Amino acid sequence: MYEQIQESAEFLRSKTSHQPTVGIILGSGLGGLVNEIEQSQTIDYREIPYFPISTVQGHAGKLVFGKIVGVSVVAMAGRFHYYEGYTMQQLTFPVRVMKALGVELLIVSNAAGSVNGDIEAGDLMFIRDHINLQADNPLRGPNDERLGVRFPDMLHAYDPALLNLASDIAQANGIRAHRGVYVALQGPNLETPAEYEFMHRIGADAVGMSTVPEVIVARHAGMRVFAVSVVSNKSYPISTIKETSHEDVLEMVGKAAENLAFVVKELLVIRNS
Ligand code: HPA
Repeated sequence: MYEQIQESAEFLRSKTSHQPTVGIILGSGLGGLVNEIEQSQTIDYREIPYFPISTVQGHAGKLVFGKIVGVSVVAMAGRFHYYEGYTMQQLTFPVRVMKALGVELLIVSNAAGSVNGDIEAGDLMFIRDHINLQADNPLRGPNDERLGVRFPDMLHAYDPALLNLASDIAQANGIRAHRGVYVALQGPNLETPAEYEFMHRIGADAVGMSTVPEVIVARHAGMRVFAVSVVSNKSYPISTIKETSHEDVLEMVGKAAENLAFVVKELLVIRNS
């Protein structure tokens, strides 16, 4: 895999003069943040050696290089999910390539269901910790020490300083936001009421089908991580659960996307100053 990562990164360096230090992964319905990228240069996943290709509606499938508030970024518009059939190694390959390009901070977003009675649809939840229930792991298999250590620590998987900053930004600007625990499941079906109840009881605040593999790889690679769930549906207490379609998820996430873009931009402004 090491050689493939280098080849992929080499290809991208030959296509763009941008040298991103921040990587951004945009979740379902959250592609709007790419409109904030200036001097942008877009490269289709199809062109990039060894990149997987996205299959889900609402995910475009391209890398966007450019600047947000003066910071060089590379954004994935369109991410990969385990339920699409990729291996964990395939779906996290772009994170490896970002690292090879010089990315030090990974910002990840997703759509998620709330299993916390205080977290409403449309709210942001800054991920402070996760529970991996995907029953697979991108680090499974022989470890390449050039990419990271065999047993990466996960104590501060989500950068505490960035969490504090994000909370301050949200509070100062009247944005409804929480800190919470994200639990990752395989999907693609949503959860049964009994499963939502279970997620609540094990200490989760939001449920989704992504993010954790990318975060594990980013931490393995020594990157800092900031991750946000945009809550698309409230699924706790279970007596209040409504049927949820993918269209419902995209619609609700679209409404909150502006808040997400605002917080990310402010974070980059402060980090850059
Ligand atoms: N469960 C899992 N993934 C999700 C949900 C949910 O309720 N909402 C958006 N993504």
